[in-house]
Amino acid sequence: MNFKEELERRTKEVQEAVFQYLPREEGFPARLAQAVNYNMTAPGKRLRPLLMMEIYRMYGGEGEIVYPFMAAMEMIHTHSLIHDDLPALDNDDYRRGRKTTHKVYGEALAVLCGDALLNYAYETAFLAFSMEEDTKKTARALQILGRKAGIHGMLGGQSVDVMNEKKEMSRQMLDYIYENKTAALIEGSMMIGAVLAGASERETEKMEEAGSCLGLAFQIQDDILDVTGTKEELGKPVHSDEKNKKTTYVTLQGVDQAQKTAEKLTQDAKRLLTGEKDEFLQMLLDYLMIRKK
Ligand code: IPE
Ligand code: IPE
Ligand code: MG
Ligand code: MG
Ligand code: MG
Repeated sequence: MNFKEELERRTKEVQEAVFQYLPREEGFPARLAQAVNYNMTAPGKRLRPLLMMEIYRMYGGEGEIVYPFMAAMEMIHTHSLIHDDLPALDNDDYRRGRKTTHKVYGEALAVLCGDALLNYAYETAFLAFSMEEDTKKTARALQILGRKAGIHGMLGGQSVDVMNEKKEMSRQMLDYIYENKTAALIEGSMMIGAVLAGASERETEKMEEAGSCLGLAFQIQDDILDVTGTKEELGKPVHSDEKNKKTTYVTLQGVDQAQKTAEKLTQDAKRLLTGEKDEFLQMLLDYLMIRKK
């Protein structure tokens, strides 16, 4: 398999599936829809919906029920980025190679744009109810989506992250932050893929565990790239963590040791995915370790 070509092809497929749900820019709230689309169409990696689709197929899923959930997850993720960049949080000016929302549309609309995306994610996921007669899997997938995005997931992690800048932090608290601000949506993506394909509760739990390892590794890599990467490649500013005096795996362990920790976590995630035979997923996890953006 030519991994790079395959990644490009599958990412394009994901993007088409996600983009079909974007709101029309019309009527009085046209500007809000414009801001939503400005963010959603910017060149992100689409990692979460890609993982959801791959796990769905790995467990034998064949239909399109996964599409509204892929879109919903990318919307929640994009909402988290818009709010993460606000002056009250990380105060960053670039995202996905473009000026951040508050720089272009102003702070008020950026707050509303993040809110709108979070709500629109659920509006989109609810569409799944009319796609299948047996709605049990949709209901279960929605429970996971809601939980992983909220206080017991991404938002919980973001709150502890932002409230503990410039402070000494225990490893335990740092792990809580990574597990939630970043791993929760990755876990949710993998779990929803499994649930919609009809995987068992045990298999779904295994996906949660794999997502946890991958999510931690992904955030550690993000912290490393904040130090070693370039703004051009990343499409977002470097040294944002230093600017905000964040405790990260890099400040705790240094770049080399942090890289080793991320590699170990990636191996753990890969091990949890073996036996399910998905060459592309295994290659994707390796690729994420050497990514430049
Ligand atoms: C950025 O996520 C925020 C983190 C959780 C580290 P991504 O690196 O997946 O951002 P996009 O979607 O590709 O822009
Ligand atoms: C972000 O962590 C996690 C989110 C939920 C957005 P960071 O603040 O490190 O993400 P980037 O580096 O701005 O993408
Ligand atoms: Mg942040
Ligand atoms: Mg940030
Ligand atoms: Mg970062």
